[in-house]
Amino acid sequence: MSLIFVLNGPNLNLLGKRQPDIYGHETLADVEVDCRSLASELGFDIRFHQSNREYELIDWIHEAREIGAAIVINPAAFTHTSVAILDALNTFEGPVMEVHISNVHQREAFRHHSYVSMRADGVIAGMGTQGYQLAIRRAVAQVQAD
Ligand code: DQA
Repeated sequence: MSLIFVLNGPNLNLLGKRQPDIYGHETLADVEVDCRSLASELGFDIRFHQSNREYELIDWIHEAREIGAAIVINPAAFTHTSVAILDALNTFEGPVMEVHISNVHQREAFRHHSYVSMRADGVIAGMGTQGYQLAIRRAVAQVQAD
């Protein structure tokens, strides 16, 4: 079965508790349940991870190189800072979808630039946690088209 890696960066473990006015009330566990059920409906399997450590995200991207069909990633604050995550994503050959729960373009100027967007095939921002579902659908469509 084809595998989609859904990767989440720093502070997303606090989803639901962290600034709910911006990020909503759903927890990351809720997001995981929704991602798993959509993926299985589409005939895909999911590896769902979160870390506050940059190197762990990079290691999962390397793992996806070996066994993953697509990556859906919310790099959180690393979006705006991490050349290392961009470099790792550039070693991955399948589709990469970048997700932001909030509309980063309505927020502080430092959130307007994304290193990850230089590699991402698609970017979703401001759709709340539903963005993950949209990204999975698009990743699957792209895998199936390739
Ligand atoms: C975020 C937006 C980032 O700017 C922020 O650092 C996050 C979450 C989002 O999902 O909207 O932690 O990626």
